[in-house]
Amino acid sequence: MKDVSANTDSKKLAGEAAASLVKSGMVVGLGTGSTVAWTIKKLGLRIEEEGLDFCGIPTSFQAQNLAIQCKIRLTTLDQHPDLDLAIDGADQVDSDLFVVKGGGAAHTREKVVSCSAKKFVVVADESKFVEKLDHDVPVEVLPFAVKLVEKRLKDLGGVPALRLGKMKDGPVITDNGNFVMDVDFGVIDNPKELARRICPIPGVVEHGIFDNLDELYLARSKGVDIIKRKR
Ligand code: 5RP
Repeated sequence: MKDVSANTDSKKLAGEAAASLVKSGMVVGLGTGSTVAWTIKKLGLRIEEEGLDFCGIPTSFQAQNLAIQCKIRLTTLDQHPDLDLAIDGADQVDSDLFVVKGGGAAHTREKVVSCSAKKFVVVADESKFVEKLDHDVPVEVLPFAVKLVEKRLKDLGGVPALRLGKMKDGPVITDNGNFVMDVDFGVIDNPKELARRICPIPGVVEHGIFDNLDELYLARSKGVDIIKRKR
């Protein structure tokens, strides 16, 4: 369970800083979670104060509702398959800018949206930045395939746990109608290789390892650092 009260100031700092990347005429992917929520709110303010005019594509019901509240004009991937920019949060980012996402069970849509964008930016507070990834990897799973996927993830050395609902009995159901497993792989030395091995498991819809991050907006005590991908 995420502690939404932790690092609120840092999340706000990083989230709001990335809102300056959005220009009129752009099509922008709107991520999910408490950090990027600050980006979305700031974009709402810019619409009101500056007349900023862009279209957003939300990655979840949460992002969609917030964007509507903020009076952001929405579109779809069918109408605008090529995005200028996608901005999202992360659960963990390593020094090579590999990312684990899916703490909000939205990583499938987040991956589709970010991979449709010319530039993918992540906003995060310093607690998310690590040398090597060791966060549980969320894996969205077709409910019909849960037992097979569980077995195959164990064969890869993972310890999978079906994510359970809060204020709801039974498993979390994603916006796509699927389950999520959080898989403990310990320290992940080679995220790209692990991703390559999870992908072909029958019944896996999408995993939360992202290798397409272009820029990280990282809130530190002295301000926001912008870290660009070198690989
Ligand atoms: C949702 C995500 C979120 O972006 C990630 O969990 C970070 O959330 P927060 O900004 O609330 O810490 O991947 O699926």
